[in-house]
Amino acid sequence: LNYRVPQTRRDIIQTLIKGLQRMEYRGYDSAGVAVDGSGKDHAASISLYKKTGKVKALDEEIYKNNSIDFEAELDTHFGIAHTRWATHGEPSPLNSHPHRSDKNNEFVVIHNGIITNYKELKKYLVSKGYDFESDTDTEVIPKLIKYLYDNRESNYMSFSTLVERVIQQLEGAFALVFKSIHFPGEAIATRRGSPLLIGVRSQYELSTEQIPVQYNCSKSSSRHPYFSSTHTSPQTCSAHAIIEHTNKVIYLEDDDIAVVVEGKLYVHRIKRTAGEDPVRVIQTLQMELQQIMKGNFKAFMQKEIFEQPESVVNTMRGRICFDSNTVILGGLSDHLKEIKRCRRLIVIGCGTSYHAGVATRQILEELTELPVMVELASDFLDRITPVFRDDVCFFISQSGETADTLMALRYCKQRGALTVGVTNTVGSSICRETNCGVHINAGPEVGVASTKAYTSQFVSLIMFGLMMSEDRLSMQQRRLEIINGLQKLPELIKEVLALDDQIKSIADELHHQRSLLVMGRGYNYATCLEGALKIKEITYMHSEGILAGELKHGPLALIDKHMPVIMVIMRDACYKKCHNALEQVTARQGRPIILCCQDDPEISKMAYKTIELPHTVDCLQGIISVIPLQLISFHLAVLRGYDVDYPRNLAKSVTVE
Ligand code: G6P
Repeated sequence: LNYRVPQTRRDIIQTLIKGLQRMEYRGYDSAGVAVDGSGKDHAASISLYKKTGKVKALDEEIYKNNSIDFEAELDTHFGIAHTRWATHGEPSPLNSHPHRSDKNNEFVVIHNGIITNYKELKKYLVSKGYDFESDTDTEVIPKLIKYLYDNRESNYMSFSTLVERVIQQLEGAFALVFKSIHFPGEAIATRRGSPLLIGVRSQYELSTEQIPVQYNCSKSSSRHPYFSSTHTSPQTCSAHAIIEHTNKVIYLEDDDIAVVVEGKLYVHRIKRTAGEDPVRVIQTLQMELQQIMKGNFKAFMQKEIFEQPESVVNTMRGRICFDSNTVILGGLSDHLKEIKRCRRLIVIGCGTSYHAGVATRQILEELTELPVMVELASDFLDRITPVFRDDVCFFISQSGETADTLMALRYCKQRGALTVGVTNTVGSSICRETNCGVHINAGPEVGVASTKAYTSQFVSLIMFGLMMSEDRLSMQQRRLEIINGLQKLPELIKEVLALDDQIKSIADELHHQRSLLVMGRGYNYATCLEGALKIKEITYMHSEGILAGELKHGPLALIDKHMPVIMVIMRDACYKKCHNALEQVTARQGRPIILCCQDDPEISKMAYKTIELPHTVDCLQGIISVIPLQLISFHLAVLRGYDVDYPRNLAKSVTVE
């Protein structure tokens, strides 16, 4: 929203489009924008543009329209924009946001989340004569606000009162931003369940670092002098869309209603509940724009793979003292006693984050001497898994926003367990809702296929195990070995990255195949799951991570001389058993490509090809061995001609169940 700084409509549209492009890495299928229409009283109409495909297509669409004056200077303007990932209704312009109340675009709305009672609302609104044009759940919202506006009991009803009434009828999860021709220049944003932040930019010094929350306020009584904001942009939780304008943000809480009017921001709630925080703090984000730019790499994913020597160091920075062999995770120290008293650890996540749990389960069991369950969030909830007060539940999530993981967190919290977040996104929902946590500090991850977040989650969980075992005399030798291994990790990762050309030549050979199996066991089972996930995510080849111990129980039937197989055979306690699996594969004319340790002639003899990796402590080996699989999937996707960073049908952050 621009106030007192005249800008052309073109500038305003560009700000919105750029913001959408910064969010595009999350993987979306359509986009839309709503801005004030042309004419003398520009706010008396709203122009709506929607398009499927990339944001660039939307941008082009807007400029095809000649009826709009792009060079007109506007004093006050409020525009909204949205990228969609289809849940209800296929990707199409009609199903894209902003959704509108009627053909005159009296009210337009953008929504992140799901309205679960939309069918009932739709039925009611249809019975009142409101026509629907999309298959989405969201469309009930603009229709409902128009219905309430049309039937308002007084002409003085404010925009925010209307929004309050709307959200009282909604069930499900939402972050919403409203715009209306009846309330020109006004912006209303609210949330429940879905995240929402407001970026605050001021020409003047902010006179405070927080804004008070008001109750039952109406627009006219809500003025207060906290800041003279000249540019306030409500966006979703990720700060990527706004970071180039401001690093000052306010995270809204559930049921907060944020109103921007005449350039001033007010936050209020419908009613006061005991013990709640009466202020919303303005936070300063540390994210820098160049951190999210691609640099000289072909894709963000490639850049992120190559960042791993530094990102793992950033995860360990200030936490491990290599002289005294101590590990301190500041975010957990206050709860360490309680964690040590627990009966069980439950590690919960989705996708790659789940694999980080699988990868570290064995070492956590060893170092903590506790039973460790590793769970996929969706399945954990489906099973209504018993959780007790003396359980400690870890929620692993790069984004900190994954809906299934967040639901599992709320489920465990309700049952009295201590909750620990392991996320890469400061201020994310999982960070805020857990009792304590660890930031993995891997830096922004843009590629939809997660890479550096995985290795940093891995390191974070190992550090947790080390912290838990600090006072166990019997474990000192083992701890020392692991801490030394962690210290050497960045150098070893660099050695693996130097194999890129060799890995690319293997991808050259494989890229016409339809299937690719990845097999291993023990500490490297997770490597196989994660490698296969990377391959299927971005190359669209069928790929399966197979536990070598299960080979005889099914997968062996797949093996013949045509089936490409990658095997991970490192020098650890499972070496012999992996060797057996290898014999079985070669006996069926399989031609395995083997990831093995340097100088292993016995394995090399039996391999079709080898990728020789530096050896490290058994429980850290997975960090080294996953990297060739990340690289192979990247090269395969490029060779097959796919968009590495935006794989079809996938989103970086899945905020719906
Ligand atoms: C999506 C992404 C995956 C990610 C998973 C969990 O499926 O495409 O790359 O591993 O969500 O995301 P989180 O942010 O919770 O780690």
